Amino acid sequence: MAPIANLSHSMDDVHELLNSAPATIGAAASLAELDEIEARTVGRGSPIAEARRGLGGIEDPDERRETGRSINDIASQLTALIDDRRHMLAAEEQSIVLAHDRVDVTLPGRTPRRGTHHLITQTVDEIVDIFVGLGYTLTTGPEAETEFYNFTALNIPATHPTRLESDTLYLDYGDIDEEILLRTHTSPMQARYMEQHDPPVYIVVPGKVFRADVVDATHSPVFHQIEGLAVDDSITFADLKGTLASFARQFFGKGTMVKFIPHYFPFTEPSAEMHAYTNGSWLELLGCGMVNPAVFEHVGYDPEKVSGFAFGMGAERMAMVRHGITDMRALFDPDQRVLEQYR
Ligand code: PHE
Repeated sequence: MAPIANLSHSMDDVHELLNSAPATIGAAASLAELDEIEARTVGRGSPIAEARRGLGGIEDPDERRETGRSINDIASQLTALIDDRRHMLAAEEQSIVLAHDRVDVTLPGRTPRRGTHHLITQTVDEIVDIFVGLGYTLTTGPEAETEFYNFTALNIPATHPTRLESDTLYLDYGDIDEEILLRTHTSPMQARYMEQHDPPVYIVVPGKVFRADVVDATHSPVFHQIEGLAVDDSITFADLKGTLASFARQFFGKGTMVKFIPHYFPFTEPSAEMHAYTNGSWLELLGCGMVNPAVFEHVGYDPEKVSGFAFGMGAERMAMVRHGITDMRALFDPDQRVLEQYR
């Protein structure tokens, strides 16, 4: 049992606490700090706990009750102060978190950048769509092609200069019977398709083509063509003109004038270039002509029974003419500032 002297000593500490603790509690800067202060002030090792432990040594019951009451009184005053401070600190910490996580719902939204197809893709798609609208079927073929389909089946003689390595990119497959090359135009699909299908034929064939050219404002070793072929029992040059003029008006605008200038292609006879009047001048758009009977013979069609026309156009050229682009390199340069203009 603790001696009385000790208790009165403890009671001094308790009273002293009542003086000093309110300032300490009020100065607690965080909940963690307040927890420490609470332990020191009213916890197990505190003067208050100590004084309570000494109560049993007080002989006089009245005095014991009196002292106990005053300890409890002080303890509950201090506990109330601690609780107030705790509420304050909790509210402060909460408002710091809220301020940190604050969302300003009135800010304008961030619009995600919207992607788009490249101008060439858009152009190819649009041209193909126009012909599909006229009843043509979309088909595609290989970029690595045999010499036969790229040249021979199209009536291009073995001595023709486009067959030279200076114009055509040949692939090295070693010692094989036939040369493999990167197709120089989409026309080989005329022969491939007719070999596989009976007439009538109405096809449109987009794809990449390759030539041994150095890049400049109007040339590229890779570009895109759209081939067309119509074969039926009584197709005439008037059908060719009507079809391509209608295409030009859909692609360049209603009033677009076109003219056909005689030209030469081994796989069409007669052959022509179609020019269109756009942006104040006549511009060459595409090559075309009536399918040469020699081509029909190569694919097993009877030139006495069928006739047809074919055409081929460059997608880059069509896009350039339409948008007044003078340097083809703008289309191959991945500069978004340029490409974004064509959405
Ligand atoms: N293949 C020709 C070229 O690349 C274009 C063409 C296609 C001409 C079909 C006539 C008929 O220049």
